[in-house]
Amino acid sequence: VATATVPDRGTLHELVAAATRAPSVHNVQPWRFRPRPGGLEVHIDRMRALPVHDPFDRELTISVGAAVTTLEVAARAAGWGPRTRVHPSEHDPDLLAVVELGERAVPSDDDIALAAAITQRVTHRGAFRPDALPDGLLPALVAAGEDEGVALVPIEGEAALTDLAAVVAGADRTQFGDVRWRRELAMWMHPERTVDGMPLPPGSSLWTRLTTTTPGEVVHADAPDRSLVLTAPLVAVLTTTEDQRGPWLTAGRALQRVLLTAARAGVQAGYLSQACQVEDARRGVRYLVGGERHPQSILRFGVPDRPRRLTDRRPVDHVLDTV
Ligand SMILES: Cc1cc2nc3c(=O)[nH]c(=O)nc-3n(C[C@H](O)[C@H](O)[C@H](O)COP(=O)(O)O)c2cc1C
Repeated sequence: VATATVPDRGTLHELVAAATRAPSVHNVQPWRFRPRPGGLEVHIDRMRALPVHDPFDRELTISVGAAVTTLEVAARAAGWGPRTRVHPSEHDPDLLAVVELGERAVPSDDDIALAAAITQRVTHRGAFRPDALPDGLLPALVAAGEDEGVALVPIEGEAALTDLAAVVAGADRTQFGDVRWRRELAMWMHPERTVDGMPLPPGSSLWTRLTTTTPGEVVHADAPDRSLVLTAPLVAVLTTTEDQRGPWLTAGRALQRVLLTAARAGVQAGYLSQACQVEDARRGVRYLVGGERHPQSILRFGVPDRPRRLTDRRPVDHVLDTV
């Protein structure tokens, strides 16, 4: 085993480029990476917070957790032996993790396949093909969550899925009925955004509807309908036993491990997380997963009906500090 090496800028650049492929709420990319001897600090960037959508930074923290796992997966495939400490500083709550790259190690085929999935994973908002998931995938997804200490709970049976679809639809109505929530989303679906935020569905009048100041509900024609929930080959909820910043970070790490495990098998996910984002709805989902655990993300899994291109990311130089 070779001795630990201080990584050069080129190495850090490559690893951070991979880490930024992580999913994030509204694609806000709320992360900053700071080089330090032997590795990188990962900070949350609260300038990218969504005070209406996510007042406690729960989903912001989940997003950074996803970036931490992506960094680890990329580092392992690049021949490092990463070790991560979370919330390492009592004085700096925005420093969420330190990833030490560790000693050089030969990556396994598994490490390389998981890292290849970083640029294969996309959020899929349309329908999935009706085919069942590949054999053994559900246990692999559950194990991927467990590796990070998080339980992925499948929602099975028409009655439970119908209940979930109703809770999701109710949460959609609450969000689209809130003019402040709509306008905050519009800032991240702005037609002039290129390197962050979300693309507008082509030809959609969604942006006009989001920016209207008329109070009350606007029609959300793009909301996932009941059939998307009922026909998905798998619907599952990522859950934690506690509900604060430590478990949120862990949930984000688990989320990305689950998504990469799926993408590696050609399976993608779409989110039904509205029902975790609206408090009343979240209580409904909590009940559906047994009443004890806290739902953090709700996902549908399947093979997309059509390919989707990768969404944009900010250039590495915007998120990797110089020291
Ligand atoms: C915590 C979290 C919550 C999310 N919630 C939703 C959601 O409710 N609806 C949705 O369509 N996408 C949701 N997403 C997906 C993001 O919009 C997506 O990751 C981002 O736009 C980047 O696109 P990509 O995943 O295809 O790279 C969420 C992602 C994260 C990490």
